Amino acid sequence: MTEEPQAKGRPTSPGERGKQLVVVANRLPVSWIERESPGRQYGWETSPGGLVSALLPILRERAGAWIGWSGAAGQAPEPFDHQGIRLRPVQLSAEELELFYLGFSNATLWPLYHDSVRFPEFRRSWWRSYVDVNQRYAEEAARSLEDGGTVWVHDYQLQLVPAALRERCPNAHIGFFLHIPFPPGELFAQLPWRRQLLEGLLGADVVGFQTELGRRNFVTAAVRYADARRIDDEVLEWRGRRIVARSYPISIDFTAFAELGADPAVRSRSEEIRDRLGRERKIILGVDRLDYTKGIDKRLKAFETLLARRVNSDLPSPVLVQIAVPSRELIPDYAEIRERVESYVGQINGEYGTLGRAPIEYHYKSIDQRELAAWYLAADVLAVTPLRDGMNLVAKEYPATRVDGDGVLVLSEFCGAAHELVDALLVNPHDVDGMAHSFERALSMDEEERRTRMGSLRDQIASTDVYAWAEGFLEDLNR
Ligand code: F6P
Repeated sequence: MTEEPQAKGRPTSPGERGKQLVVVANRLPVSWIERESPGRQYGWETSPGGLVSALLPILRERAGAWIGWSGAAGQAPEPFDHQGIRLRPVQLSAEELELFYLGFSNATLWPLYHDSVRFPEFRRSWWRSYVDVNQRYAEEAARSLEDGGTVWVHDYQLQLVPAALRERCPNAHIGFFLHIPFPPGELFAQLPWRRQLLEGLLGADVVGFQTELGRRNFVTAAVRYADARRIDDEVLEWRGRRIVARSYPISIDFTAFAELGADPAVRSRSEEIRDRLGRERKIILGVDRLDYTKGIDKRLKAFETLLARRVNSDLPSPVLVQIAVPSRELIPDYAEIRERVESYVGQINGEYGTLGRAPIEYHYKSIDQRELAAWYLAADVLAVTPLRDGMNLVAKEYPATRVDGDGVLVLSEFCGAAHELVDALLVNPHDVDGMAHSFERALSMDEEERRTRMGSLRDQIASTDVYAWAEGFLEDLNR
């Protein structure tokens, strides 16, 4: 495989240089790619996304390592270097893939932490596997860590790692960041292993959340179920140690998306898209992992309501382009939502389409960042309407890409991004009529209002990019 360009990014602040940093996340920041043409090519490719591009330059500077899973069950590859960073793969057997990853992480914690929009299953065999796998990640981290080094643990799959690591490395600086929501007390209370999970997190020095709401829910749960003592809103005391709980809303590489938005090839691809879909038609775009938390089915219902209202109108009918990225397909709830979404798309197209012109264009695939940026430029409206979402970075990528200052963001009140992006059209995704009304309002908004709102969204996102996010967290951790 040809050598990839190294992820750029801002360097860390001078005070942090030289201190070793180890990142622990469920997945490694690379995937194994095999391409048949042109010529057979294979190798590790850096995964796209803000978190990876923010952390790689910091890790390079701080002689760090990244511990994670390669994405395949069975024997883990030997540790290897990628773009100047030591990657240490953790092994997951086929059974652990089922019990730890598909089971406890994604069929217990994932639905429970997303407002129980699907029923979370509580199975003891899944929990036991979660404990074992978390211990393994902690052991691997301990092996890579110098005395007094810094470890940054990520996300819901690894909530027991901070305490497991604290036992092995009492002097380490341990940080944990939860990328998804931390649920309200009445939901978290259902978890049979709630105390153990909280004790796992309380092994950290700094526990970070996407929103103030998440931080508050955690602090309340830690006091109630793990006997932590509240010192103030952001500080807990537990077993003689102080733990900071704070919100750090994650962001994106604003400049990288703005550069894509200004790239002539991306712009010309977006013109092609507009020509193909019909210049006179307005485009509403949805881009989501195909996950039941994203509310794609409700979005389709709202779009259908909009079409029904416009049946006798002279306005050209809009097109909804839904890009659904395949995800966790082995979990029954994911297979079910895919079936539901696809049959609904067929039904709406059957009812409202004309020959050669469907009201919904549906793609079930991953797309690369350049193609995604072209879609962002082509879209008059971006609909981000999850039922619950930790942050939702698509909601930040769209305004960042719109260097032309146009476009409207319709955003669910129930995602973390809604706390910051107050100039979006905020919607309740459970209110189908309300959402249809907001689509209508977005499609007919005058240019001045569009530009004013988009300008504020862009300013907001530019002011706190993913590099500032990572620096802010690490500064607190190394204080
Ligand atoms: O948002 C949570 C998250 O786990 C991300 O970290 C990840 O990129 C995404 O969901 C996809 O999840 P998975 O690793 O299960 O494919």
